[in-house]
Amino acid sequence: MTDIAHDRLLIIDFGSQVTQLIARRARELNVYCEIHPFQKVTDAFLRDFAPRAVILSGGPASVLDEDAPRPPASLFELGVPVLGICYGQQVMMQMLGGRVERGHGTAEFGRAFVSPAGARTPLLEGWFENGPEQVWMSHGDHVSAIAPGFEVYGTSPNAPFAVIGDPERRFFAVQFHPEVHHTPKGTQLLRNFMRLAGFAGDWTMGAYRQEAIRRIREQVGDKRVICGLSGGVDSSVAAVLIHEAIGDRLTCIFVDHGLLRENEAEEVVAMFRDHYNIPLIAADESDLFLGALEGVSDPETKRKTIGRLFIDVFQKYAAEIEGAEFLAQGTLYPDVIESVSFSGGPSVTIKSHHNVGGLPEKMGLKLVEPLRELFKDEVRALGRELGLPESFIARHPFPGPGLAIRCPGEITREKLEILRRADAIFIDQIRRHGLYDDIWQAFVAILPVKTVGVMGDGRTYDYACALRAVTSVDGMTADYYPFSHEFLGETATRIINEVKGINRVTYDITSKPPGTIEWE
Ligand code: XMP
Repeated sequence: MTDIAHDRLLIIDFGSQVTQLIARRARELNVYCEIHPFQKVTDAFLRDFAPRAVILSGGPASVLDEDAPRPPASLFELGVPVLGICYGQQVMMQMLGGRVERGHGTAEFGRAFVSPAGARTPLLEGWFENGPEQVWMSHGDHVSAIAPGFEVYGTSPNAPFAVIGDPERRFFAVQFHPEVHHTPKGTQLLRNFMRLAGFAGDWTMGAYRQEAIRRIREQVGDKRVICGLSGGVDSSVAAVLIHEAIGDRLTCIFVDHGLLRENEAEEVVAMFRDHYNIPLIAADESDLFLGALEGVSDPETKRKTIGRLFIDVFQKYAAEIEGAEFLAQGTLYPDVIESVSFSGGPSVTIKSHHNVGGLPEKMGLKLVEPLRELFKDEVRALGRELGLPESFIARHPFPGPGLAIRCPGEITREKLEILRRADAIFIDQIRRHGLYDDIWQAFVAILPVKTVGVMGDGRTYDYACALRAVTSVDGMTADYYPFSHEFLGETATRIINEVKGINRVTYDITSKPPGTIEWE
């Protein structure tokens, strides 16, 4: 096994929604890191962890509040580089002898521009080549006096101490978030920090795989795991990874809820049972799901119904597997942050993802979620590392509730059949035109309206459908894909000619936000 102990970055989490992005950037820079909540980071923890560098994340608290979260003071005695981000900067300044004040009109949210100020620093190498740099700010309080030993490297109109540092002790702090896309030179800053800290940058997906396997073995011990296979990339990668860790103590359950795409069930069984020899229970429960969904048109009720039935079905099959104590899921990081507030505070539920949370205690199974900190493209990289076929890895994401959320209004078997055919043609078109890999996700939604058309000499009265195709980096924001008119025309003609039941095709040109990728 790769020795990972030599070169570790510690990220102390103060509850920011984007802490995981720091880890993601570190992985992109081939640096091994671990995120630990501030409550856990004690003097002893720091000593044992022996980080090469530490990053203090942002967070929702105010350092001016009583009981504001802090890292242990011994952090600053370790002799290793520290980078404070946003709340991390404020807590650093407060602990090291600077001053932090409440926002009062100086709160800054969103885009700001940082200009160079006074001293130069290797932390900002590559910055300011073409003037001020765009950064993403999100803070109420601000630093009003920097600690002794610190100097100012960058300033913005509302954050005079946007970038500061103590070169002697290699302590740095920024008021903005370098880890988000909206700070275009943020990755450069983090790369500079890693270099300053002396990271070799030799951490790879291969090493991640070893580490993930180690963690699965540690968590599971000699118990059995059940894995819900959805047919998508995420649960597949999770299954293969867990199989590598614990072998046949993993049993996969693949539930056909009647909401899958054309030929999907057959393909999944062929791949896992026949190719990978992973013990697999393939359960056709379509009658149960479609029966329960009869007459349901409210999106949240659909999602909750499917989620609830999934758990019931799992319980039923899990009961047949003796000694099963764990349930594995291919939950990804975007699922986690969109569904729950990381800080545990109130947050708006946009959609209840059926594969996150809500797993009732009564099920008596603990969760194994080996992909919980990864983003989609990282899961794909891990899948490649595990030898999954490229055609499978490059597949577009498919949501747990399946076609149910692409069928606004009531779901019927007839509509699902029509939808499957249309979807298969759309995807075939995309592949034929060589566009599949340029698109994050593409599918057809069948609309709950019938419209009048004319075919040959006859009148038609059939369903309308919408094509949806988006580009995205992580599924959290998306743009519609700019197909040519020829492509759209050809696809519409094929769908109308080849699918009985559709006589009108539209193209959805909504971005996310304000739209979501799925229709429900
Ligand atoms: P939205 O529609 O929220 O989707 O913009 C973002 C990404 O998440 C997928 N998605 C889901 N995946 N369970 C899943 O496993 C779900 O309940 C779910 N809902 C949406 C969606 O396909 C897109 O890739």
